[in-house]
Amino acid sequence: MKQKKLVVGNWKRPTIKETEILAKKIKEKFSSFIDADVVVCPNNLSILEVSKILEESPVKVGAQNAYWEEKNPCTGETPPSMLLEANCRYVILGHHERRHVFKEDDEMVKNKLLSVLRVRDIVPIICIGETLDELKSGRRDYVLLEQIQHILSDVQLNFNQKIVVNYSPIWAIGTGNVINPKEAEEAAQVIKINLREVFGYDLVNSNFKVIYGGSINSENVHDFVVQENIDGVLVGGASVDADELYKIASLMSK
Ligand code: PGA
Repeated sequence: MKQKKLVVGNWKRPTIKETEILAKKIKEKFSSFIDADVVVCPNNLSILEVSKILEESPVKVGAQNAYWEEKNPCTGETPPSMLLEANCRYVILGHHERRHVFKEDDEMVKNKLLSVLRVRDIVPIICIGETLDELKSGRRDYVLLEQIQHILSDVQLNFNQKIVVNYSPIWAIGTGNVINPKEAEEAAQVIKINLREVFGYDLVNSNFKVIYGGSINSENVHDFVVQENIDGVLVGGASVDADELYKIASLMSK
């Protein structure tokens, strides 16, 4: 059976109050929505409130980051078990902004992934992508393969565990520079071929989604989701407008 497409809203900007208002609008708009899987990822300070608001909603709640240790606490970090306690069902790992600002590397993202998989019931959304220089020098595929192989190298997948790989070219995040959908499809295909080599065809079809992120909005999303290997989108800026997010999600099954 074909999996539903996935829409992930990365709510980076809104304040606590704005997030609450936004979540209430989302609850209303998406009350009977079934055409795609929809996830919103608020700031950690808003996760509990948003989880409460969306308790009966088909829209799931995710986090923007997780720590890689459960047993050894680290000041300011949130372990996956606590995210689960707050009803998070998804978590974004290794977003470019975290890699860039906090120098998170593939080894850290791998450890975060393993720690998320240990608590089960949370779907990791692993972010990978190339810089503009890497793209221009023709190294994109090599960079993607290297990231996948490093991050997923120690993963033992059980049959219920889902994993999302978010392909976000770094130069397209928050810039309005949209990649040609055919190039995104090419990259998604490269990612899937590599995943199949590691996990096998059936498991990749049933348990993995490869999505695209970077300057997506309701005007351009259709050209991405009609591509064979793109199973959804991660949306930053455009996702903090409930009407826009609804439009984007509604285009997933068209
Ligand atoms: P954007 O953000 O849609 O505003 O480019 C994407 C992201 O958060 O990765």
